[in-house]
Formats: sequence, C-alpha cells, structure tokens
Amino acid sequence: MDDLASLLHGRYGLDLKTDAPLNPTLQSILNHRSCRSYLDRSVDDELLQVLLACAQSAPAKSNLQQYSIVVVRDPDRRSRVADLVPGLSPWFEKAPVFLAFLGDVRRIRRLAEKRGHDYANNNADTFMNAAVDAALAMQNFIVAAESAGLGTCPISMIRNRIDEFAEILNLPDGVFPIAGLTLGWPDWGGMPSVRLPQSIVVHHETYDDGALDTEIEAHDDRAHDRKPIKPGSQRHTDRYGVLEKCTWSENATRQLSEPERAHFTAFLKSKGIELK
Ligand SMILES: Cc1cc2nc3c(=O)[nH]c(=O)nc-3n(C[C@H](O)[C@H](O)[C@H](O)COP(=O)(O)O)c2cc1C
Repeated sequence: MDDLASLLHGRYGLDLKTDAPLNPTLQSILNHRSCRSYLDRSVDDELLQVLLACAQSAPAKSNLQQYSIVVVRDPDRRSRVADLVPGLSPWFEKAPVFLAFLGDVRRIRRLAEKRGHDYANNNADTFMNAAVDAALAMQNFIVAAESAGLGTCPISMIRNRIDEFAEILNLPDGVFPIAGLTLGWPDWGGMPSVRLPQSIVVHHETYDDGALDTEIEAHDDRAHDRKPIKPGSQRHTDRYGVLEKCTWSENATRQLSEPERAHFTAFLKSKGIELK
C-alpha cells in the first residue's frame, strides 16, 4: 500500500505531513484517475451487477431515487454513441461497457398517476435532486469500479448532441442525461491529476475565498509541473492563441469564456422538465 504522504502528494503536488490512518478505501479514492485507454477485455455481468448495486447504495434525496442507469454493451449502439463524440476516438469505442447516468423524474410521476395523487413538483428543486442523485450513484460506481481494478471516465460530451443521444437510448419524457461513463480494464497507469489545495476549496466555519489570489499561481505551477496542458488540449486557441505554459486557471477561464451547451434548457423543456 502506498503511504498516505505519497498519496496526498499525488493528489495535490504538495508535501503534507500526516499521521492519519490509511486503509484500502482511502487509498483507492486518493489514487483516482480517469481512464482513457482500455484493454481488449470484457467485464463480466456478475461483477457489473455488484458495481451497479454499489451505485444504488449511494444516498438519494428522501430515498426518492430519482435516477436511472442505462448499460450499453451492444457494439453498434456504442459506436452510434461514439459518433457523437468524435474527439474521444479511439479509446471511447475500446471500452467494453458504456453507461448513461440519468436524472429520472418520470418514475415518481408515473407512480403518482397510478396512485391517483397530484404531481406538484415539476420544478428546479426536483431537477437538482435528480441530478444530484444520479451524480452520487455515478461516483459510487466509479469508486467501486476502481476498487476492483477497473477504469472509468465520465463523459459529459454526450450532452453536446443531447437530442441524438436521447434518441439512441430511447429516453422518454422526464429523463435526462447527466453524464455517460466508459468502463473497462485499464491499459495504462497514468498519474493522478493535481487538485486545487484545500486552502482554496475548503472553508472553515464560514465562506472565505481570500486565499484564491495568493494561492492560485502556486497551484497552477504544481498542476503544470505534473502535466503541462498540450497545445491540442488548450481551449479556444483561435481566440487566445497557443501558450508554452497554459495553466489550469488560464485554460479553465478560456473554457468558460464561451457558452457551453446553450441548448440544454430547451432539451429539458422538450422532455417536460421545468426549471421554475
Ligand atoms: C460530470 C463529468 C463530466 C466529464 N466529462 C468528460 C468528457 O466528456 N470527456 C473526458 O475526456 N473527460 C470527462 N470528464 C473527466 C474529467 O476531465 C476528469 O475527471 C478531470 O479532468 C480530473 O481528472 P481525473 O478524473 O483523472 O482526476 C468528466 C468528469 C465529470 C465529473
């Protein structure tokens, strides 16, 4: 087992002193990395069933469980999904399993009708609860898969062409994708990607983001030292150019300088989901 100090160094690029106890769950979570390279090896149904049970073991708002998961193994269907995300070729198609994690407000609506009750919560709060339920289930799935030696990568890019994606999976009213997830046996070790330090992300007692200005440059340097952002991964180079050192904060702010997926609200509306 790696020692805790090396795991924390992997996560933050910082030397942190600690005597906290380590166990295999903490080790696996601290070692997380998204996997974008897979072996030509299938994932058996029994293992998948256990991983799905782990996903369903996540907490859910009021235990309403407002999410669904579609498991896609069929190569033709996976290739139709792959066509929607050409930037992820060829590793995306190599993953033997693709899962779609979906917010699902349809199930309770159907049950309300069946039981003769009004349904009075087609609103932003329900949307948020369903999205959070689906995200927690996906994260539990990721942790479980990684603990079994599998690799995963969440895919929000499927939302770039969300209408076509919904058609491929036959998503009905009240069901919306939060993200896809590739699953397979990793063909690579990779390095953990450096996270923002706790001094920026974690606030004690009350919110205070005073450390951002003083700490962000050091974070940018650590992230760059771990894995420089290559020209091909630098955002909107037509507008901002290619930089020899394109830092995390430069690339993140470049990314959000242009609207992403402006069609999403219209998609939700088309599925009968209101954000009132
Ligand atoms: C909701 C969500 C959507 C994501 N979508 C994509 C995606 O479309 N394509 C991709 O290559 N990675 C995607 N990722 C993976 C992130 O890029 C990755 O988690 C992040 O860079 C941190 O790296 P790590 O997971 O290896 O620690 C997504 C992650 C999340 C949580």
